[in-house]
Amino acid sequence: MLDLSPASTVRSAIDLACMAPSVHNSQPWRWLVGPHTVHLYADLRRWLPATDPDGRDMVISCGAALDHLRIALQASGHRPAVHRLPNPADGDHLAAVELRSNQYADADLSLVNAVPARRSDRRPYGSWPVPAAFVDELVAAGNGRGALVHLVEPGERPAVVRAIREAEAVQSAQPGYDTELALWSGAVAGPDGVPAANLLDDPAAGGPASRRFAPGSVTPAPGRSDDAAELLIIATSSDDALSWLRAGEALSAIALRAVDLGLASCPLSAPLEVPATRVALRDGVLGGAAMPQVALRVGWPPPGSLPRTPRRSLDDVIAEMTV
Ligand SMILES: Cc1cc2nc3c(=O)[nH]c(=O)nc-3n(C[C@H](O)[C@H](O)[C@H](O)COP(=O)(O)O)c2cc1C
Repeated sequence: MLDLSPASTVRSAIDLACMAPSVHNSQPWRWLVGPHTVHLYADLRRWLPATDPDGRDMVISCGAALDHLRIALQASGHRPAVHRLPNPADGDHLAAVELRSNQYADADLSLVNAVPARRSDRRPYGSWPVPAAFVDELVAAGNGRGALVHLVEPGERPAVVRAIREAEAVQSAQPGYDTELALWSGAVAGPDGVPAANLLDDPAAGGPASRRFAPGSVTPAPGRSDDAAELLIIATSSDDALSWLRAGEALSAIALRAVDLGLASCPLSAPLEVPATRVALRDGVLGGAAMPQVALRVGWPPPGSLPRTPRRSLDDVIAEMTV
């Protein structure tokens, strides 16, 4: 029998929230469920200190999960009220999501349907340009979550490629980075990390924007060197945990809207993990006006589907409040 109890719908919503993208599929979240509130915590045991020394990618990942949760709750008849960083004494307590019954229909079903369909697609994309109206929709989706989304113009691409290359050199010389990358990518099975089935057999085949993960088992279609992907930089006016959370919410909104428009996407964070290249992008591409948090490559998907990247079991990430 279909279980429509509040506990069951909340659990289903958290299940969808956990399908959010996370750095290296680290899934750095914990959920504490009370009778009227779902609390989101960063799980520091899953922090990647060599890749993400500031913990920014970790909070961005949690922000994406928070946005997925809100979308899923809305689709199941709730009108969630999101309180970000509700406890000044506990910085790991990222959000309290208060459950209220829905008084009006504000669910965006196209977004909730996009949740299980979304993938981080590292393959080269099609050669057809992304229509300007679609780009505008994606930018609006991210801005609607409180971010400042910047479309990288052709003249800005060399600066971005330079930052990616420099970040790659800095990171591979950094103690622990390669070990972390190897530990969290290329596994054949298991619920953690980026599996071989989602990685290119030649990590360089995804173009300059791709991270040098362990080689995987995805062979891109031949002759696709004319990728017409667009690159969006999700930035914020401040640079604190609240901004990182909102950047993650924007990442979720853009990636889900992209699915709805038939587009593929892949987050890109390496040049933002290295202080010097992050500042170079801030000053060289964003005019010094906003802090870049994470980027997203978007384009027409190549033929063929990708498997879903596995997730940890819900019992590993949910706890019930006892009081
Ligand atoms: C903050 C953040 C940074 C990420 N950085 C990269 C990246 O630099 N390169 C990449 O290929 N994927 C990146 N990803 C995508 C994750 O690897 C991906 O979300 C994870 O493996 C789960 O797979 P899925 O998105 O297909 O569900 C990033 C995701 C997040 C949230």
